[in-house]
Amino acid sequence: MLRASVLRLLGRAGASRVSLLEDSGPRHYCSGSLRARDDACDARAYLTTPIFYVNAAPHIGHLYSALLADALCRHRRLIVPCAAATRFSTGTDEHGLKIQQAAATAGLAPTELCDRVSSQFQQLFREAGISSTDFIRTTEVRHQIAVQHFWGVLKTRGLLYKGLYEGWYCASDECFLPEAKVTRQPGSSGDSCPVSLESGHPVFWTKEENYIFRLSQFREPLQRWLRADPRAITPEPFHHAVLQWLEEELPDLSVSRKSSHLHWGIPVPGDDSQTIYVWLDALVNYLTVIGYPNAEFKSWWPATSHIIGKDILKFHAIYWPALLLGAGMSPPHRIYVHSHWTVCGQKMSKSLGNVVDPRTCLDRYTVDGFRYFLLRQGVPNWDCDYYDEKVVKLLDSELADALGGLLNRCTANRINPSGTYPVFCTTCFPSEPGLVGPSVRAQAEDYALVSAVATLPKQVTDHYDNFQIYKALEALSSCVRQTNGFVQRHAPWKLNWENPVDAPWLGTVLHVALECLRVFGTLLQPVTPSLADKLLSRLGVSATERSVGELYFLPRFYGHPCPFEGRKLGPDTGLLFPRLDQSRAWLVKAHRT
Ligand code: MSP
Repeated sequence: MLRASVLRLLGRAGASRVSLLEDSGPRHYCSGSLRARDDACDARAYLTTPIFYVNAAPHIGHLYSALLADALCRHRRLIVPCAAATRFSTGTDEHGLKIQQAAATAGLAPTELCDRVSSQFQQLFREAGISSTDFIRTTEVRHQIAVQHFWGVLKTRGLLYKGLYEGWYCASDECFLPEAKVTRQPGSSGDSCPVSLESGHPVFWTKEENYIFRLSQFREPLQRWLRADPRAITPEPFHHAVLQWLEEELPDLSVSRKSSHLHWGIPVPGDDSQTIYVWLDALVNYLTVIGYPNAEFKSWWPATSHIIGKDILKFHAIYWPALLLGAGMSPPHRIYVHSHWTVCGQKMSKSLGNVVDPRTCLDRYTVDGFRYFLLRQGVPNWDCDYYDEKVVKLLDSELADALGGLLNRCTANRINPSGTYPVFCTTCFPSEPGLVGPSVRAQAEDYALVSAVATLPKQVTDHYDNFQIYKALEALSSCVRQTNGFVQRHAPWKLNWENPVDAPWLGTVLHVALECLRVFGTLLQPVTPSLADKLLSRLGVSATERSVGELYFLPRFYGHPCPFEGRKLGPDTGLLFPRLDQSRAWLVKAHRT
């Protein structure tokens, strides 16, 4: 059985299950009873990234969207180890005016551009350890079938009509804009150009006969959905923003373009003179992946969580749920929203020449290092600024010095010559704080450490639930600091294994620190999978002992046997994370150029 907070992460498919963890077991055994086994396979969850435009190569903002989804997904797998219970899709958005124009500018056929850039995304995601189970391209036949079927359902339900659409269109954002969302900017030749108020991208006037979706009918149903489920859009400020938008009038939405203007897309069934609007096409990808229109899709829908950037909130939180309701389906379970990365204080853009190439970053900082940086520093509620020195500083202090140093202190041959997980002495560290006696060595701060680390898995899960992964890492990093303080306080290097008074306490100090490291390694797996593997392997933790359900932090303290006690440590495979500031020639060079 699964606990409530986990079930929240899982989606509705598991929502009726009963919580076990929150009300059972000793307090500090917080993850001990969290044993998700075969029944967890029924509690399915489907996570998605947005599908990425193929007009240009991927940048760190795209990688960030994918990493957030990957970390959520990997964290869920730690709690529900049944592989079949989690599905995770990503892909590329290949149709529309934006791609049609980009291909023309590059002098390529649209398919060539799509193949080229889609494979860049696939390669980047492979290199960055994005553990998706599905990759979709909207140019695939299965997708055309799904989109045309979905269109047919809307048509049959009387939600599409033909009408004259007149207004602004922004090809970069692939969206229609009302007059109030358009402003003027001086163009290159000094004339005034209409641009989108929000994105600053150019817009043009369009007037044509299109198919129109009765979006206006869905204002109240959308309000009801959001009011009934205040966590539907997380974090809360985005939920609030959508409700605010819904206070205003919701006009019907044009959902096709004349094929003579837009040929690069999916034709409207039965009317080749019209091409389906790229956002309708793109959003349906979430259904295509799970087999729509075949009934199999129902086992994944609506247990779905979409991870998206704030710029595409309106499409996911208004258009998409309205289209789904129109087609007789439920809105997605969750929409997790993140903000953007800027670079040295500026918006990232090709024209400013400040686009940060994620593959260079993965090379420089390692895959685990860069994943850690983006997830530790990226705050979903606000934009975050990127610059190289920030990465170096963070990784050196948190991964190399604090975590790597801690591991080294507890496993180095000179302090742990037997290379084992030492024995915990309950007399030196009794479970009752405040006891006094000649052999009692633990101090008040040591109890505070045990309590902090014991509650860390639950805290981390709650932060993941709230889409505040950076807070999970902040809490973890604070526990690492506390553990270093513990080691520093008791200075095991001053204790002597040969001395019968020192030895039990020396073993206990190392045992506690190794137990803390085991928790850190387990909880870091979603963010830094290889580094966590290296850490856990060094501690001698086997592959089957790495789920949150298997954690059982410091069982000896609670009077239970510890399977690690006396066990040989794993082989020493070198520094956990080498400092970067010594190998920074590229950084100095980058600044000179
Ligand atoms: N194709 C649409 C999504 C369709 S989903 C049915 C699209 N593509 S995109 O390539 O422009 O953006 C994909 C994701 O990257 C979005 O979540 C977007 O917010 C994110 N990012 C793009 N630039 C970003 C930053 N500078 N920082 C963080 N994420 C950003 O929109």
